[in-house]
Amino acid sequence: MPDRAPHLAADASAHQEHLADATARDERPGDTSAQSMRAADAVDGGLRRAGAAAAAIAAEHLASLGERPVWQPVPDAERAWLSGQKLPERGRALDELLEDARTHVLPYPMGNGHPRFFGWVNSPPNPAGVLVEPLAAALNPSCAGGDHAGPHLERAVVRWLAELVGFPHPPGGGLLTSGASMATVICLASARQRAALADGWDVREEGLSGRPPMVMYVTEEGHSCLHKAAQLLGLGSRQVRTVPVDGAYRMDVGALRTMIKEDVGRGLRPFCVAGSAGTVNSGAVDPLDEIADVAAEHGLWFHVDGAYGGLGVLADGAAPHYAGLDRADSLALDPHKWLGVPVGCGCALLRDPRAARAAFSLVPSYLIDDNAGDLGWFSEYGPEQTRPFRALKTWATLSHLGRSGVTRLVNHTAGLARTLAAMVEEADDFELVAPVTTSITAFRYRPGSDAVNRAIPGAVQARGNAFITGTRLGGRHALRACFLHPDTTERDLAILLDEIRLAAKTL
Ligand SMILES: Cc1ncc(COP(=O)(O)O)c(C=O)c1O
Repeated sequence: MPDRAPHLAADASAHQEHLADATARDERPGDTSAQSMRAADAVDGGLRRAGAAAAAIAAEHLASLGERPVWQPVPDAERAWLSGQKLPERGRALDELLEDARTHVLPYPMGNGHPRFFGWVNSPPNPAGVLVEPLAAALNPSCAGGDHAGPHLERAVVRWLAELVGFPHPPGGGLLTSGASMATVICLASARQRAALADGWDVREEGLSGRPPMVMYVTEEGHSCLHKAAQLLGLGSRQVRTVPVDGAYRMDVGALRTMIKEDVGRGLRPFCVAGSAGTVNSGAVDPLDEIADVAAEHGLWFHVDGAYGGLGVLADGAAPHYAGLDRADSLALDPHKWLGVPVGCGCALLRDPRAARAAFSLVPSYLIDDNAGDLGWFSEYGPEQTRPFRALKTWATLSHLGRSGVTRLVNHTAGLARTLAAMVEEADDFELVAPVTTSITAFRYRPGSDAVNRAIPGAVQARGNAFITGTRLGGRHALRACFLHPDTTERDLAILLDEIRLAAKTL
């Protein structure tokens, strides 16, 4: 055998020289100009210092939110600055960018950090989520799959979410998404493929044409993302049936049964029923157990939209409303709503993850990973290939709150919704328009016409002391306040009602 040692020694010394070169580059005085291409220079040339300053600015922003207007319109000059600026020819220094963000961006928030923001379904960020966002960016992985921290942590947080709400969790039974809209696409695509395979064909291969139209059932209170998903998946709005609701805006399950029978009689293919665990308008929870019965009788996929309200099951006394949630085939549950994980983070939970894999798995040769294990990559369960590190902020938020903290948050905010409902019922000039089941109170300003109720949210918002949004319920305009902020107090509720009275006078 030839002696290989001299050759190896030569290799080793060349390698050492390369390493020494690299070290020398690291040690040369930092190129602090913004023109540097090297990340290491950016770190030495400012990221350490600017990063510390950014953390201080973020903390100050959050600490002072309560003293500022909940929301204010962006002044014309600032809007022009924000939207009209030119791409700089020469790169700018980190300090400068931070100063621009501090003076032009942070003063104009959406408002959802403030304890008197009650609009839509937008929570304040949990501080632990804010804390780790820069770390996720510093790591900057794609959590498509592979053996690195991101995918492993995602397995844990998806399991935690399922455990929190009592949803079954087989290994690999879910994935994080951009939000519930994407989670819904994943769940309904899984449902569509399961139905097709059960009928002996493959929707991915054949498309939908020439097959009996697939029909889905959802109430008029079902979120628009269900309709968008159905449209995107080629089902067609016409095949999305609107199931009537009862007086509490919950699905009329008798009507659901009748509609399914009629559709079967017409030669259509009912394949999915979507219930809500917390509608966006009033927070209503559909009779999930009864819907599960119907789904089982007719072999339908049972999807639950718990994007906002799924966690409401943790509130004292709420569990009976959620009976049957654990019988669903899929559940959309948004960490970026009630939990306060910084946007965006949704989650699709699946009773049988193989259904999502059958709907999405497509592994090109350059992505084959022989070490992926039985579950494969997350990117096989949804449309996203490169996937951000959503698990870190979700892990941090859940760990910081703990199970008891999540329960406290849900109880506190659900309690505020009930208290506002009681205040509304006691007042002569307000009326409740839906029962409170989660943390939304839907009501009307009685002296105001429908047009006035429609205009009130904008007028309240413009005053800057509180923020509500409106909707239509039972054919009339209504006001709705959604409680998600841990710092909101009963005093804030009284301020809200006064703000509505004052705003209404200006209309
Ligand atoms: C009940 C419900 N479902 C679905 C969605 C859509 O979620 P996302 O905005 O995260 O896509 C929302 C958003 O507010 C919602 O309230």
